[in-house]
Amino acid sequence: MVSGTSEGTGRPALEEKILAEQLRPSSEERKYIHGVAERLLAAIAESGKAEGMVVGSIARDTWVKGDRDLDVFMLFSPDLPREVLEAEGLALARSVARKFTDTFCEKYAEHPYINATIESIDVDLVPCYNVASAASIQSAVDRTPFHTRYITEKINGLVDDVLLAKQFAKAGGIYGSDQMTEGFSGYLCELLVLHYGGFTPLLRAASAWGPHLKIDIEHHAAKEFDEPLIVIDPVDPRRNVAAAVSLDRMAEFVELARGYLDTPSEAFFVQPPLRGISRDELAAILSRRGTALCAVTFATPPFIEEIVVPQLKRSCGAICDLLGRNGFVVHHAHYRMDTGRCMLLFELLTDDLPPIRRHEGPPVWNRTNAEKFLEKYQGALLPGPFIENGRYVMEVPREFGHAADLLSSPALLNVGVGRHIRISLGKDWCVFEGADCWQEEFAAFIAGFFSRCSPLVRIRRGRQGQ
Ligand code: UTP
Ligand code: MN
Repeated sequence: MVSGTSEGTGRPALEEKILAEQLRPSSEERKYIHGVAERLLAAIAESGKAEGMVVGSIARDTWVKGDRDLDVFMLFSPDLPREVLEAEGLALARSVARKFTDTFCEKYAEHPYINATIESIDVDLVPCYNVASAASIQSAVDRTPFHTRYITEKINGLVDDVLLAKQFAKAGGIYGSDQMTEGFSGYLCELLVLHYGGFTPLLRAASAWGPHLKIDIEHHAAKEFDEPLIVIDPVDPRRNVAAAVSLDRMAEFVELARGYLDTPSEAFFVQPPLRGISRDELAAILSRRGTALCAVTFATPPFIEEIVVPQLKRSCGAICDLLGRNGFVVHHAHYRMDTGRCMLLFELLTDDLPPIRRHEGPPVWNRTNAEKFLEKYQGALLPGPFIENGRYVMEVPREFGHAADLLSSPALLNVGVGRHIRISLGKDWCVFEGADCWQEEFAAFIAGFFSRCSPLVRIRRGRQGQ
């Protein structure tokens, strides 16, 4: 246990220790990564086609030790038509990458770029437009150079605070603006530290955050936003940097901030190991809980996570509604996109229902429909029609007595699932029940499904050695 404050900085000794041991890149690491960046910039300059620029955390000196992700942008004239930028940009990125490595591939965000592994560094070579201001961007990536210029100019003296904030968010499982995390991006961490003037001031403020908080550092918002956390981009008044942050990730940041200020410890900076679960463990959990588990899996649509995951989330909700409409009470549902397959997992209070159900008819006061209803069920063998609250009600045979039968039926394709999910599901989907839902590639996902707890609860339990 380290306590007290280190001299000079006013920073707690615990944080100094973490910075020195885990977060600040060594001078060799700096030299190494900047060396690779320099050589890439030289190769871009040599081409005479675009201006190279290092962006992201390497350019701002805000990367966490050991992170090997280098973002190099290639700025082209804004007069080029979009197709020309894409073709020429990709061609240049390829030829630059080829000078250094054989391992590179094309990726696609808003437009295509090259991802290469160069000297064991994960390098993105991204073509963009060299626009005069972030307000005149032609594509989302054009903003990035402005972020770098903004942060580089203002971050002086707060780099350590940014490293602490990023690692704090990483360890809490809330770092990243990707669709699965719905958390805090690196740039957002930088802006929050800047706005509050340090890591501790940020945590103090966050302890009292509530939804619809709006931070507008440059006082220039030019649009209304309705996300839980609103941080207006200092370089673009029409963008919310925190747009990806979900209400739950925001709440998790708040509880972590309170917990850390209350009892600071190294555990708040340590990423938890990814734990899986075995098939037998899953079987034991299910028999203890007495619930029913169903999984739907299908081939992952061939698109990026940013496109697939939101559709997966919507599909999961739509299938929960379908289950509910058919009498199956969903206790908990979640989704996961893996490289090969996607999984939708449903825990139900029961997956077996009796062969009868209620069927609501029209109010007796509505004569035409009431008489039609009576006629239709004239010779029925089940009870009804009877009158309840002025309406006819009938008992009818239940179509799906078993949840897996419902999930295996074409009804699944008729719910409002996203386009790509629908196409992929339509080709083939598999339904599993009980412990058969277990699959190696989803072992960590299933483990997480059954051990939900907030990040602070997890950290506190760990400390008690549970
Ligand atoms: P990165 O995701 O690599 O972030 O995006 P980073 O700031 O370099 O942080 P780490 O240390 O690698 O995790 C590179 C840049 O792209 C822009 C930001 O300017 C960011 O710095 N970006 C990225 C966004 O504006 N929004 C995002 O959601 C992601
Ligand atoms: Mn980066």
